[in-house]
Amino acid sequence: MVTVSLKTSIAKLEFGERGRERMEATYLVVMMTLLAGVVISCPPSDRGALLAFKSALTDPYLGIFNTWTGSDCCTGWYGISCDPTEGRVNDIILRGESEHTLFAVAGRTGFMSGSLSPSLCSLDRLTTLIVADWKGISGEIPACITSLPRLRILDLVGNQITGEIPVDIGNLGKLTVLNVADNNITGNIPQSIVSLGNLMHLDLRNNRISGEIPANLGKLSMMSRILLKQNELTGSIPTSITSIYRLADLDLSMNQISGSIPAQLGSMPVLSTLNLDSNQLSGEIPGCLLRSNGLNIMNLSHNALEGYLPDVFSSTTYFSMLDLSFNELKGSIPASLAFARYIGHLDLSNNHLCGEIPVGFPFDHLEASSFSDNDCLCGAPLMRVC
Ligand SMILES: *[C@@H]1O[C@H](CO)[C@@H](O)[C@H](O)[C@H]1NC(C)=O
Ligand SMILES: *[C@@H]1O[C@H](CO)[C@@H](O)[C@H](O)[C@H]1NC(C)=O
Repeated sequence: MVTVSLKTSIAKLEFGERGRERMEATYLVVMMTLLAGVVISCPPSDRGALLAFKSALTDPYLGIFNTWTGSDCCTGWYGISCDPTEGRVNDIILRGESEHTLFAVAGRTGFMSGSLSPSLCSLDRLTTLIVADWKGISGEIPACITSLPRLRILDLVGNQITGEIPVDIGNLGKLTVLNVADNNITGNIPQSIVSLGNLMHLDLRNNRISGEIPANLGKLSMMSRILLKQNELTGSIPTSITSIYRLADLDLSMNQISGSIPAQLGSMPVLSTLNLDSNQLSGEIPGCLLRSNGLNIMNLSHNALEGYLPDVFSSTTYFSMLDLSFNELKGSIPASLAFARYIGHLDLSNNHLCGEIPVGFPFDHLEASSFSDNDCLCGAPLMRVC
């Protein structure tokens, strides 16, 4: 339409001097139509959805919503950004911890109460929804959130959200980050989660999520961090996880996970942090886990792991942290551990180990507490002479 009237006004040029003034007026109208028509920033429906979102929340200390005035929600509204060509709301980024002046002026971190309004779900161009670390936002994750086709980042960490993860979370095919850690979420990990083919970062730590980890979680081939610490998860560690090529960080600690540790975890190409502590894992520690060159932070403490410590250490062994304390390990400390390239923090305490502590560089800086409460270990740094 705009193009048509532009052509019309150019045509008017041919009517000569007498038409000039009228032509200029037409030109002006065309330009105004262009400006208004091409960049309608913040359509009333987006603005309305944001205002409904705002009215379900209370921010008593910072006044961030005081900036949410005027008709153009794409300009000057704290935490809101829009697509520059279409003027639709793309991102809501509201973090309760920030360097922004509003926080400096208030001299404190953020706090908000209230809940997340389902009105968010009409923001159908939303790609980022971060409402993090407000400590007091309660209520449930609106179930309709799974109908936002472009959502890439969903980060609601550090609130008091209850209820379950929406059962059809798997509809969010573009999702790369799902972080709802530090809330009060219950229920199971929905099976549909294995459809999130682009997911890279899953953080459900510190909630009350129960049930088993979906057996086919390993289908999520883009995943680099799976953090499920401190929930009420049961069942065993799905072996499928060991096929996730990019997985760098696996934290399943402080759950009720049982069964043995899949040996294949020791041959994952980029896995560097493995925390399985405070579970009910049993069986022996797979040798390849301790032989792995990539793994350098590993906590297996507070389980029911038994058997001997595999004698698999070498000059390529490098652990910044290796905690095997509070298990049922027996036998002696393998002499090969003394040849390790580096061991920052080692904890073998509270097992049933016996015999002489090897002498060597990695042991030089270790304290007695690394070896205490075993059956019959002896030698430095313990007081007990062999
Ligand atoms: C989480 O829920 C439990 C049980 O409903 C409640 O006792 C607890 O106070 C809640 N914690 C938080 C941080 O809301
Ligand atoms: C390993 O996990 C245990 C139990 O969850 C924890 O107490 C300990 O501090 C962890 N070890 C290290 C070195 O972080």
